[in-house]
Amino acid sequence: MTLVLNSISKIYQDGMSEFKALDNVSLEVKPGEFLAIVGPSGSGKSTMLSIAGGLLTPTTGDVLLDGENMASLSKKQLTAKRLESIGFVFQAANLIPYLKVKDQLQVINVISGNKADSYGAELLEHFGLENRMANYPNELSGGERQRVAIARALINDPKLILADEPTASLDSKRGRQVVELLANEMKARGKAGIMVTHDENVLDLCDRVVTIRDGKLEE
Ligand SMILES: Nc1ncnc2c1ncn2[C@@H]1O[C@H](COP(=O)(O)OP(=O)(O)OP(=O)(O)O)[C@@H](O)[C@H]1O
Ligand SMILES: [Mg+2]
Repeated sequence: MTLVLNSISKIYQDGMSEFKALDNVSLEVKPGEFLAIVGPSGSGKSTMLSIAGGLLTPTTGDVLLDGENMASLSKKQLTAKRLESIGFVFQAANLIPYLKVKDQLQVINVISGNKADSYGAELLEHFGLENRMANYPNELSGGERQRVAIARALINDPKLILADEPTASLDSKRGRQVVELLANEMKARGKAGIMVTHDENVLDLCDRVVTIRDGKLEE
């Protein structure tokens, strides 16, 4: 999938004051391309990722998914599009506490009406979790939890992956392993991806790095 951000600005309204979190950001990510976003805290990285994924609406500018303008979709269509096309990975794994590992993935399959679940088993094996299928999140290590979260983001085979500091809770070795798994899976299936990261140790796994500073993009 090709993702285009076209002159995106975002102004947060905070009572009487306004804050410009993004200032005229334009960007394109092509199928099979893995883009890293770096920049200081508060520079607008998460805001940009949320807008790219349709979780937040820009104040001005357009988001195009394969040429389709997200603003032209109804709320219902947008939700369906997100579920079908976009996989999100967050800083904390956000797993459902009362579901076993295999059911964390299965629940996405059920919601999206996806019948085939053999890919779930394949992903878990791929991610070294085949012996953890029947465990609950609180029985897993931080790295295992994050690998489950990434497997869950991939289970639908979404064409776009958006990851916000996926390695933040991991040491540098585990962090790198997790991003390697993600990058390999994305390459193998021609997905487009954006990862926000503070971790310099994983930048070489990405195709391109852009910096955001004070809401502005620098290549
Ligand atoms: N809902 C909101 N209302 C008002 N201001 C907000 C809101 N969300 C974010 N901001 C502000 O917008 C700016 C950008 O926030 P954002 O979360 O995108 O930064 P970030 O680059 O992801 O930072 P970090 O690296 O710390 O996660 C910050 O100054 C933040 O305080
Ligand atoms: Mg952030």
